[in-house]
Amino acid sequence: AALLGFVRAMPKAELHIHIEGSLEPELIFALAERNGVRLAYASVDELRAAYAFTNLQSFLDIYYAGASVLLTAQDFFDMAWAYFLRAKADNVVHAELFFDPQTHTDRGVPFEYVIDGLSRACAQAWQELGIRGELILCFLRHLSEEAAFATLEQARPYRDKFIGVGLDSSEVGHPPEKFERVFAAARELGLHAVAHAGEEGPPEYIWSALDKLKVQRIDHGVQALRDPALVQRLVRERVPLTVCPLSNVKLCVFKDLRQHNLGELLAQGLVATVNSDDPAYFGGYMNQNFVETFAALELDAGQAVTLARNSFEASFASAADKARYA
Ligand code: HPA
Ligand code: ZN
Repeated sequence: AALLGFVRAMPKAELHIHIEGSLEPELIFALAERNGVRLAYASVDELRAAYAFTNLQSFLDIYYAGASVLLTAQDFFDMAWAYFLRAKADNVVHAELFFDPQTHTDRGVPFEYVIDGLSRACAQAWQELGIRGELILCFLRHLSEEAAFATLEQARPYRDKFIGVGLDSSEVGHPPEKFERVFAAARELGLHAVAHAGEEGPPEYIWSALDKLKVQRIDHGVQALRDPALVQRLVRERVPLTVCPLSNVKLCVFKDLRQHNLGELLAQGLVATVNSDDPAYFGGYMNQNFVETFAALELDAGQAVTLARNSFEASFASAADKARYA
């Protein structure tokens, strides 16, 4: 119990949070009402009851439906602000937020509304909560390379409002190398690069995220343990893994939390971090992920300190901020 109090109170960085995945059912209904959007569910309870997933795709279908209520810059602000209040409660002092512009621009929402609302929330989080918030633009990997290039082009005028690019959505069948050229173009703009790999997909996708996309972190990466040579490389190069324990259980990557390999990832010397992924859908925010995982895997204070340190090392925080967090 003392350990869990320590874990809750320690300062931490969150590096794997899809801001659209922080949209709580109550806010989905409030925004639907405000915007006159019709939902396929009659109530908050009915919507929540649909959150029973069998794999990544079964989640994504509902996640994209939930995002359909987001229309104005204010909607994006309200969503991100609600997240920052939750982050504050969990003593998250630095957060790098993924956003999926194509989910919105494909519905006719201007890219400008998305980035304006989100970046205003980040500015206010720093001013009022002392939380550093940064944005990472994710390409949807089930869409084409051409669509990803068009998105990067739309984003260019707002280059100073986001710090990197990522790759998310349906993994299996959409290997990283499909986006080799668009990631090269993004890195050319000085953007950081990360990618989801090895969530459901094979270790080969982690290799190609590193070699073809030249990413600085792997999102999820829990399948890496199937490939000892890959583990050796990730350890040697200190490539961080942004692990999301509650997500992995909800999407049936592990049967239950006691089967999760976070303890083994740490034991092998990997730079693993704990993150919430899509907290409104997967059963909790940062501290819920920490507390449930620590209880299930019987982790200790040393591992808590390592996870917090890893989160700052793995972050794209400035050198000055990293020194403050150390
Ligand atoms: N994996 C892939 N795409 C996603 C996820 C995830 O866990 N969450 C939101 N988009
Ligand atoms: Zn994710």
